[in-house]
Amino acid sequence: MSESKIYPVPPAIAATAHINQARYQQLYQQSVKDPDGFWAEQAQEFVTWFQPWTRVLDYNYGPDEVYIRWFEGGKLNVAYNCLDRHLEKRGDQVAIVWESDDPNVDRRLTYRELHTEVCKLANVLKSRGVNKGDRVCIYMPMIPEAAVAMLACARIGAVHSVVFGGFSPDSLRDRILDSDCRVLITADEGVRGGRHVPLKKNADHAMAECPDVTTCLVVKRTGNAVEWRDGRDIWYHDAMAGASDQCAAEPMDAEDPLFILYTSGSTGKPKGVLHTTGGYLVFAAMTHRYSFDYQDGEMYWCTADVGWVTGHTYIVYGPLANGAKSLMFEGIPNYPDMSRFWQVVDKHQVNIFYTAPTAIRALMRAGEAPVKQTSRASLRILGSVGEPINPEAWEWYYHVVGDGRCPIADTWWQTETGGHLITPLPGATPLKPGSATQPFFGVVPALVDATDGTPIAGAGEGALVITRPWPGQMRTVYGDHQRFIDTYFKQYPGYYFSGDGARRDNDGDYWITGRIDDVLNVSGHRLGTAEIESALVLHSAVAEAAVVGYPHDIKGQGIYAYVTVMAGITQTDELKRELVQLVRNEIGAIATVDIIQWAPSLPKTRSGKIMRRILRKIAANEISTLGDTSTLADPTVVEELIAHRANQ
Ligand code: WTA
Repeated sequence: MSESKIYPVPPAIAATAHINQARYQQLYQQSVKDPDGFWAEQAQEFVTWFQPWTRVLDYNYGPDEVYIRWFEGGKLNVAYNCLDRHLEKRGDQVAIVWESDDPNVDRRLTYRELHTEVCKLANVLKSRGVNKGDRVCIYMPMIPEAAVAMLACARIGAVHSVVFGGFSPDSLRDRILDSDCRVLITADEGVRGGRHVPLKKNADHAMAECPDVTTCLVVKRTGNAVEWRDGRDIWYHDAMAGASDQCAAEPMDAEDPLFILYTSGSTGKPKGVLHTTGGYLVFAAMTHRYSFDYQDGEMYWCTADVGWVTGHTYIVYGPLANGAKSLMFEGIPNYPDMSRFWQVVDKHQVNIFYTAPTAIRALMRAGEAPVKQTSRASLRILGSVGEPINPEAWEWYYHVVGDGRCPIADTWWQTETGGHLITPLPGATPLKPGSATQPFFGVVPALVDATDGTPIAGAGEGALVITRPWPGQMRTVYGDHQRFIDTYFKQYPGYYFSGDGARRDNDGDYWITGRIDDVLNVSGHRLGTAEIESALVLHSAVAEAAVVGYPHDIKGQGIYAYVTVMAGITQTDELKRELVQLVRNEIGAIATVDIIQWAPSLPKTRSGKIMRRILRKIAANEISTLGDTSTLADPTVVEELIAHRANQ
């Protein structure tokens, strides 16, 4: 295995880091030799408890029964930890810096101001009948009120379900119904790249089929006209005006649910990943401080949307639990121009910057000039998340954006994991471009043979599994515990299976190779092939569809759909456009099909199973390595597809 360049830890970073190389080794050893002792210490250090726990960890990793319980008996409140406990020391320090889509508009909220807003909204929610354990849906643009809404739920023990503002009305409806949300918090419109996103209108469409939603709180972002249903729809500012700013934080059990976040899997509809209170918060705070070496007073910016797990853990909960200054950005990297990210870095003196490879690749295309016209001298640490970062993009990020000074934390994790599982620590880990390197404290990854599950020792490649729980791990699929067991604990008994493949080199560093299930990663966003296929077959002209990913320069993966039409239907470009639009309407703009190939039929085994492996190879133009096609019912299908492969 040839190893690429190694970038040693910069001495200046190591000198002041929370964790240096020796400390990493020592703490990691402790974390695996004495997990209970280790996690008890961390839970004390990072979280303020109303009542201590009686047991650190109780778990069963299956195969039949799966449960994971951390810090049982402990009582705490997440909003209290993110706000109240900071008031004395840093009440007047900024908590959230909001940079709007418009470069001339920003806003700052101190910890005290944020606390006041959260208490008020918590009272508003209570007045609308929201009780502990009830689910509240949040469908918001990137404005501070999104964080206020999450924290207000946490304060009263309601369970939030944030739905990304880019999702369609149908996607929103499905999520509201699945977790039976009775209250929806949204905005009139969102603003991105100068364009308005009709959130309330989408919400109206969704709510038309959600009769149990009794309250829709609407933040006025743009002030444009929206439809209104009296009694149900309430302006956020009106409700807040009359609300008391006194609201005690509800003492929650460590294992009480904190939030649900829907994510795509390889089969069926997106599943509601459920995270609980104590373990999640400990893990969010700890990973935020150590993975980014967050130092008190630093300005930290994660460019994710709060609609994704990265926004939950690394814009809201982790940073605020640590009393950090967290920047929230409403806009996009290329508006008004390709220099925007770096202008924001200079404007707010950002020290730690965390983004996705897809953004890096898009910016890289525009060349160095938009970067180099800014200073970026405040930057100290860079981060990457969401998909494997290709070495070329890594080097550009490191040398051009970071001027060769700033370590890159390539953080591997998932919605299910709550926080980072494999990542370098800036003061401790030598970097290799493209490698997520080493496990975080308490995380014991392993590789197993993807086909037969045999453990792989030393260097090798296989399915990436985790051998024991960490506090940020999801606890169940909301409303479907069996699906939780089947998805994560069945295929490789005794392990949590991530769905990713990885390679481990001779130094024990991990290189994530990407999903090995039927999940796509498009611009860092997860999409299930099954979801897209279900949308395609809704069209009356479509008989069958199979969707795979293919390598895409900017998006990482593009969406390639093989579509078989009904007898007598003409295969036109017009129909292709209709299908693309149909999928966007069903799921959202992130699910824009890049390529449609008409397929007279699909390659299937004799038992009727579509052989996606072959479809992936054709889409990627790797036809010389198709592999064994002898099990196909009709091998000529493949030749036909190759002959008419769509141009890319
Ligand atoms: C991928 C996002 C390589 C991976 C936090 C995972 C990565 C999926 C990395 C989870 C990384 C995330 N290197 N691949 N640093 N980070 N992934 O649930 O395939 O939206 O399974 O969580 O993204 O996506 P999710």
